[in-house]
Amino acid sequence: MSTHPTRDTAAAPDGAGSTLIANISSLVTNDHETVAAAEHGPLGVVRNAAVVVEGDRVAWVGTESEAPATDSRVDAGGRAMLPGFVDSHSHLLFGGDRTEEFAARMSGRPYTAGGIRTTVEATRAADDAELAANLARHVREALRQGTTTLETKSGYGLTVEDEVRALRIAADQVDETTYLGAHVVPPEYASDPDGYVDLVTGPMLDACARHARWVDVFCERGAFDGDQARAVLAAGVARGLVPRVHAGQLGPGPGVRLAVEFDAASADHCTHLSDEDVDALAGSRTVATLLPGCEFSTRSPYPDARRLLDAKVTVALSTDCNPGSSYTSSMPFCVAVAVREMGMTPDEAVWAATAGGAAALRRIDIGRVTPGARADLVLLDAPSHVHLAYRPGVPLVAAVWQRGERVL
Ligand code: NIG
Ligand code: FE
Repeated sequence: MSTHPTRDTAAAPDGAGSTLIANISSLVTNDHETVAAAEHGPLGVVRNAAVVVEGDRVAWVGTESEAPATDSRVDAGGRAMLPGFVDSHSHLLFGGDRTEEFAARMSGRPYTAGGIRTTVEATRAADDAELAANLARHVREALRQGTTTLETKSGYGLTVEDEVRALRIAADQVDETTYLGAHVVPPEYASDPDGYVDLVTGPMLDACARHARWVDVFCERGAFDGDQARAVLAAGVARGLVPRVHAGQLGPGPGVRLAVEFDAASADHCTHLSDEDVDALAGSRTVATLLPGCEFSTRSPYPDARRLLDAKVTVALSTDCNPGSSYTSSMPFCVAVAVREMGMTPDEAVWAATAGGAAALRRIDIGRVTPGARADLVLLDAPSHVHLAYRPGVPLVAAVWQRGERVL
């Protein structure tokens, strides 16, 4: 950090030098342990705060009156700041959409896993450029709503070639990629589902493993049963991938316990949970990732976040953005629904959408505003993070920094 006098500029030139972001009414750090000025509590809020950004990292966080000298200064206008949202679960490699399916559902037709096959057909028909452009559009859309880290999955290709290209395209654009060859059994394997599991755990995994960090399986009636899911996770682990599991979305099943048994980073959906499932999660380091957009868009009962939080399970919130069950890229929307419908307090929901998502990705460099963390910051057109739930549907994101660079 230099000793130059501060001056008001829009951002540090070329990202060089140090920038003070000052006049922040309320800053969510998610780190009350390291940040001395933070209030007690998981959000570690600092009032009248300032942040120093150097390169792609946070260099200093505290009360503005104690801020060090920097090369440049940005005025936050007395508004609230929080870490960029960490969306740890999305399915953004797809072609087409499912508008008609959604409309039919809103007139009473139930959601089933079978709709995935409609998107598989459209995805196979799309060329690489279309898939890449579609992904870029959604990444940008998410960024405008404050999402600075995205995980996304394959799973709409379901051939060796189509799964590999999905992951290759994804790895160019997002931080975290997940191999989901086990999304559903594609039509050409309808009479031989175990043959498809052999493909997913054999040649398809061989081709996909180097493009992904995670392996996922949709463990659900209509998709993969407990034995098949176990085979998929075991094969992925043997290839160095880390498990995450789609579990308990449409009904009860073995997915959550399997996730815990495999020390998965996350069990996702968790809408239908037995007491044993909750106990298993509570005794593990597997995060329960709840996806409110899914229940909203499938008109299903919401997961009970309160039950999980009371049992001391770590909870993350994510969009599940996909063309079938949850076509929203908005983390603020998920925060608002989780507070209104799932028994979360605004503080719990904001933590789950930032630090919770980071935990679900086993990352400590994101989801927090603390020295050394990646400088991913969201400035709200509001005096407090509570407004994310208090003002649903309002575009509150005023500015976004990603890796220290002002991107919005
Ligand atoms: O997470 N559950 C499985 N996969 C997606 C649904 C995908 C789709 O309907 O296209 C989900 O909700
Ligand atoms: Fe999903």
